[in-house]
Amino acid sequence: MKVLLTNIKELLQVWEDSPAKISGAAMKELPTIKNAWLLVEDDRIADFGKMENLTELQVPETIDCTGRIVLPAWCDSHTHLVYAGNREQEFVDRINGLSYQEIAEKGGGILNSAKKLQNTSEEDLYHQSASRLEEVMRLGTGAIEIKSGYGLTTEAELKMLRVAKKLGKNYPVAIKTTFLGAHALPVEFKGNKEGYLDMVCNEMLPKVAKDRLAEYVDVFCEEGYFSVEDTDRILSEAKKYSLIPKIHVNQFTALGGIAMGVKHHALSVDHLEVLTDDDIKALQGSDTMPVALPSCSYFLSIPYTPGRQLIDAGLPLALATDYNPGSTPSGNMNFVVATACIKMKLTPEEAINAATINGAYAMGLSETHGSITKGKKANVIITKEIPSYGYLPYAFGSNLVDKVLLNGKLI
Ligand code: NIG
Ligand code: FE
Repeated sequence: MKVLLTNIKELLQVWEDSPAKISGAAMKELPTIKNAWLLVEDDRIADFGKMENLTELQVPETIDCTGRIVLPAWCDSHTHLVYAGNREQEFVDRINGLSYQEIAEKGGGILNSAKKLQNTSEEDLYHQSASRLEEVMRLGTGAIEIKSGYGLTTEAELKMLRVAKKLGKNYPVAIKTTFLGAHALPVEFKGNKEGYLDMVCNEMLPKVAKDRLAEYVDVFCEEGYFSVEDTDRILSEAKKYSLIPKIHVNQFTALGGIAMGVKHHALSVDHLEVLTDDDIKALQGSDTMPVALPSCSYFLSIPYTPGRQLIDAGLPLALATDYNPGSTPSGNMNFVVATACIKMKLTPEEAINAATINGAYAMGLSETHGSITKGKKANVIITKEIPSYGYLPYAFGSNLVDKVLLNGKLI
């Protein structure tokens, strides 16, 4: 089955050979072809070029992209999209003066979501999550990472991961799953963190691995949650099952978790709203991708990850949504890209690199996703008619995504 896109105003992120990730000053460059065509065959990108060189291609299904920009579908490398219910009451509590941390200390926050999820059937959880996934697909997301961490019992953690895996089977989106048992200390383990860590390491990890429910392991390394030592223990244990780390770190405090992640060859370290020079040094020379989550900063009114500083230090940067019911009830990558430009001072080129190829890297998907390259998955966004790609982050409140092709098919 072939589909031909013609008269594309500008085709973005075009590479004969795609790099695995883009770092530092190179992030300012975005290779493009103006007045282009793109040929899709089955679920893959077959070929592309300039309109003037398009010869004798007889393809029954043609999409005229006059005035439109075509780019790789977004790669969202950090979400908690599988969750039950919402937490808008806590949102109102925050408006009325309570802090995110104060709400968590009162038993709200992650524990509130865990209680809801434990009482939700697997089927219901699947349906709630599927409708979120459908929404983000329409907004242009073509690959997504989903974490557990709202279960906090062995059964509920496995339930979350089974739901995420089932979404991956039923939808034309690449889904990578992450086991985040150490997201918060459950009430039953209050004053007995070691007991919970034992359960994570001796009961949850082996079951997750046995059922092949996750590729990655995560820990919320933060004051009041899990320490750098706890993180070290979990990552060491997870290594026995070949689970690669992607960790929540430096959201509110810099504890040295970034260096710990790098020591364990973490694929990514995520959040980084608070960053020290030592953290930057730890990342330099490593293969670990720093991931910024600007929608979380926006929603919680906390500092934005100093993305400029990271890029100017020669590092790569990925952008993701952090879609979850507490700190970021939005899975909109278009808003993430715009906010990175508006609040973190990334250029449109840097933000698009961060949300495509670097996001793919942070999910181990650079070989198949994140750029317009022959042989990669045909996952593309066709925009509405817009003046230039800079207009995407500029017109931040508009939905400029017109069509989305995933695995070569219009959704
Ligand atoms: O990435 N920071 C830790 N976990 C999530 C939010 C958890 C919640 O509030 O439900 C995050 O922001
Ligand atoms: Fe998160």
